Order: sequence, then C-alpha cells, then structure tokens
Amino acid sequence: MLILGIETSCDETSASIVENGTKILSNVVASSLPLHAKTGGIIPEVAARQQIKYIIPVIEKAIENCKFKIENLGSIAVTIGPGLIGSLLVGVETAKTLAYVWNKPIIPVNHLIGHIYANWLVANSVLQIEKPRATRHTPHAKIDFPALVLIVSGGHTDLLLMKGHGKLKWLGGTRDDAAGEAFDKIARLLNLPYPGGPSIEKASDKGNPKAFNFPRPMLDSGDFDFSFSGLKTAVLREVQILKQRQQFNNSTIQQLAYDVQEAIIDVLIAKTIRAAQIHKVKSILLSGGVAANEKSRNELKLSATRHRPHAKFFVPEKFLCTDNGAMIASAAYFNYKPVDWRKITANPELYFD
Ligand code: KG4
Ligand code: ZN
Repeated sequence: MLILGIETSCDETSASIVENGTKILSNVVASSLPLHAKTGGIIPEVAARQQIKYIIPVIEKAIENCKFKIENLGSIAVTIGPGLIGSLLVGVETAKTLAYVWNKPIIPVNHLIGHIYANWLVANSVLQIEKPRATRHTPHAKIDFPALVLIVSGGHTDLLLMKGHGKLKWLGGTRDDAAGEAFDKIARLLNLPYPGGPSIEKASDKGNPKAFNFPRPMLDSGDFDFSFSGLKTAVLREVQILKQRQQFNNSTIQQLAYDVQEAIIDVLIAKTIRAAQIHKVKSILLSGGVAANEKSRNELKLSATRHRPHAKFFVPEKFLCTDNGAMIASAAYFNYKPVDWRKITANPELYFD
C-alpha cells in the first residue's frame, strides 16, 4: 500500500510517499531552519507562516518525484501532535482536505510514534530529490520484539518498551528539558548557532576528554527518568567563571561542547542499557533528532553490543532521525486505523496513551 505521509509539527514541512511502511518512494523536506537560526530559536508564528507557503509545493513535489497516480494512493497519514499548534494545523487541515477531495482514508499519527518508525524505513530506496526514481531497495533487518525504544528529540526524551505494533509501554522520560532542548539551550550559552545539537557536535570535535566534570543527572536514580536542566545551570556557571577570567574563547567553548555532549550521552546510554537488560529486549531502537549525533549512535551501539549482546541495535539513517513525512507514513502503515476526516483535530499536547 502507498501512503502519503505529511509532517508539519515543528519547523519542517515534509511530504513523503512510502510503500508498505518501509520503502521510501519520495521524501521532500522543506525547513524554515535558516530563519530560526537568525533568531536563535523557533518563533512559532514564523514557522507556521512558512509552512503555509511550503505545504502545497512540498506535496506536489513528493507526488511528482515518484510519478504515481492519485488512484494508486492507499491513504494519507498526518501528524496530529505533539507540536506547535499553528504548525500542526497546516498539515492537519491540508491532509483532511486532500482526504475529502481524493476520497482516501486518513490516519492520524502521533509524532513521537512516527520517530520510532523511522527505524523501519529503508533509507537507500530513495534519497535525494535529484534522484527520485532510484529503485535500489534492500530489505530491512528484522526488528524483533520486545524492543526497547529511546526517543531523543527537541521536545521529548522518552524510554519505551515496545512489545509489538501498537503495544507501547512508557517506562520513563524527562522531568524538565529534553535532550535536544538541552543541546539547543546550552549551545546558546556557548554562542553556538541554532540548532544546538549539530553545533555542539561540530564544536566538540576539537575537545579533549574531561576538562570540565559536568554532572550526570539522575544517573543512579533507579528509575528511567531524565533531567537535563541542572546540566544547563552547571554550564552557565562555568561560562560565567571563564568570562570573568577572560578565558571564554574558541578553545574553551570547544572543550565545554565536548564535555556537554559526553554528559548527555552518558546518561542516555546508561538508562537505555539498564532498561534493555531489565526487560530482556531483543532489539534496541534509537530515534529522534538527537539520534543524528554520531557519538550517540556509535556509543549506544557499542554499549548495547557489550551489555546486551543478544539484542540487535537499530538507528535510522541520519536524515531520517530529524522530522520527515516518511516516518509518519510508516507509523500509519503498521498501525493502520483510518478515522473519519471530520473527527481529526490537531493536539499540541498529545503524548502516549
Ligand atoms: O526530532 P527533531 O527533528 O524535532 C523534534 O521533534 O523536536 O529533533 C530536533 C532536535 C534539536 O533539538 C536538535 O538540536 C537535535 O534534535 N539534533 C541533534 C543533532 N541533530 C539534531 N542533537 C545532537 N546532535 C546532532 N547531530
Ligand atoms: Zn520530531
């Protein structure tokens, strides 16, 4: 079945066509990120205004790229939350209109569940807009259940046990800032550009192990919750001291970036591995924007191999870690529950049931 996935929950506007939940036929993402880089963060009205401009051309391009006929489209999937209300409305109202006009079933999708399903996508079936008709398709390695899922995005950090499609149990999450949010806020303290995750990753390349010993929040709390706001405060204090001593320069910024990245990744890994061991999972799935971080991918994989050797480790290709319509289409395929378009509404606060 071909599903058109529409994603507009934050600063991306994306439309993708996915076959049977795994094979990406086209994937178009337009981002208003350069506009937010100027303001050091997302201004919701600016994001939504851009999405109104982008949404139709993005959907047209997604269809054009794989040259298929609307008659062959099985259904439409759309992110209904969580996210920014103005942004969500653009995608939801467009998807509802298309469902009515084309007379297609529509499936509402939780954005966070979408992130998980990026792990089912076969990245090399298509990639660039320039190569829309690429047909290389390798079958996805099988994800066995139960699986342990870590979602690390800009707004969320959650650990879940997945016993099957539609069978998710929330184990824990952040009590304050999400991991991506911590990267973004700390980057601002370090005068690094938005979005903070990639900036900190880049700056940390030149750091050395452990100059600043930042806290590993809630590392030994015995539960699966996270807290990253204390780390932000610790960095602020260090920045103030360095500024007083006139030592706040490129070299100390790179070092701070290195240690911040280490502190965040250490906690994420420790909790994930503990949960994987306790729940005796067969697979470990990393997902969300922060999963694009090379060190988080490598270190979690390494740690999983060492401490849970029988479990298989999965992480989406980097371009599928951040927001995209393909993951929404995939989530809809594996959790196929069409709803009357009149009953679909955007829900910025949507979480797990
Ligand atoms: O999943 P996502 O695209 O959007 C949300 O659903 O929030 O995640 C965006 C977040 C941002 O906080 C961004 O700084 C972070 O993912 N991120 C990264 C990297 N790339 C994006 N964090 C660390 N390292 C990266 N390479
Ligand atoms: Zn996201």
